Amino acid sequence: MTVYFIGAGPGDPELVTVKGQRLIQRCPVIIYAGSLVPVALLENHTAERVVNSAELDLQAIIEEMAQAHAKGHDVARVHSGDPSLYGAIGEQIRCLQARGIPFEIVPGVTAVAACAALLGSELTLPGISQTVILTRYGSRSPMPPGEALADLARHRATMAIHLGVSHLPDIVATLAPCYGADCPVAVIHKATWPGQDWVLGTLADIQQKVEGKGFRRTALILVGRVLGNDVFEDSALYRAGKAHLYRPG
Ligand SMILES: C[S@@+](CC[C@H](N)C(=O)[O-])C[C@H]1O[C@@H](n2cnc3c(N)ncnc32)[C@H](O)[C@@H]1O
Repeated sequence: MTVYFIGAGPGDPELVTVKGQRLIQRCPVIIYAGSLVPVALLENHTAERVVNSAELDLQAIIEEMAQAHAKGHDVARVHSGDPSLYGAIGEQIRCLQARGIPFEIVPGVTAVAACAALLGSELTLPGISQTVILTRYGSRSPMPPGEALADLARHRATMAIHLGVSHLPDIVATLAPCYGADCPVAVIHKATWPGQDWVLGTLADIQQKVEGKGFRRTALILVGRVLGNDVFEDSALYRAGKAHLYRPG
C-alpha cells in the first residue's frame, strides 16, 4: 500500500502525467484538493472512496490515509500543479513517516510553466535573466529571514509570485525600485482553465490593468525583462560552429 502524492497540473485535465492519470484511475481511495484540482480529472476513476480535502484538517486527512493503509488500499492524494510547491505535502509526509506508511511523489505541471506557455515566453533568456525565483506573497505564512520580496528583488531575476494578486499594490511598490517602473509584468488568472485570462503591463500600470480585469484569486504574477522586447543573443546550445558532446565539430 502506498500514498501517491500526484501533481494534477494547473487546471486543464490533459496536463496531468500519464503516470498520475493511471494512478487516479486505479487507486481505491482518492483524496483531492478540491479548491484547485479540476473534478474532470477524476473522471473514469474506480475508487470506492473519494474525499475533498478542502473540507478536512491535517489530522482528518492522515486518518483517511491510515484507514486506507489498514485495508491495504493505495491512495491517490491529488494536489494542484506540482505537489512540491506550496502543496503542504511536507507535513503530510512527516505524519506518514511517523506511522510507517509508504509514500511516493508523482510530479506535475506547475502553474509557472503553464503561465509561461500561455504567454509564449521563455523565462530564461541569454543575457537577460538566467534565474527564476519562485516565491509567494507572505501574508498568512510569513517569509523566513532573507526571503522578503525586497531581498529577492535585488537579484532582478525573473520572478514568479504566487498567492499575491490581492496584494499587488504592495508588490509593485517593493519591486519597482529594483526592477524599474518600466519592467514588464504579466498577471495570469486561472491558466489553462476554461475562462483563463491574463494581462500584460509594466510595474507602472499593472495595478490599474488588473483592477480592470477584477482578478482576485488563483492568479500568478510573473515579473522580469524576459517578458519584454529586450534584445537577447542566441543561446550557445544551437549556435552554428559551437561544438559539444552531441554535435562534435
Ligand atoms: C497553493 S499554490 C499551489 C501551487 C501549485 N502547487 C503549482 O505547482 O502550481 C496556489 C497558487 O498558485 C498559483 N496558481 C495555481 N494554479 C494556477 C493557475 N492555473 N493559473 C494561475 N496561477 C495559478 C496562484 O498564485 C495560486 O494562488
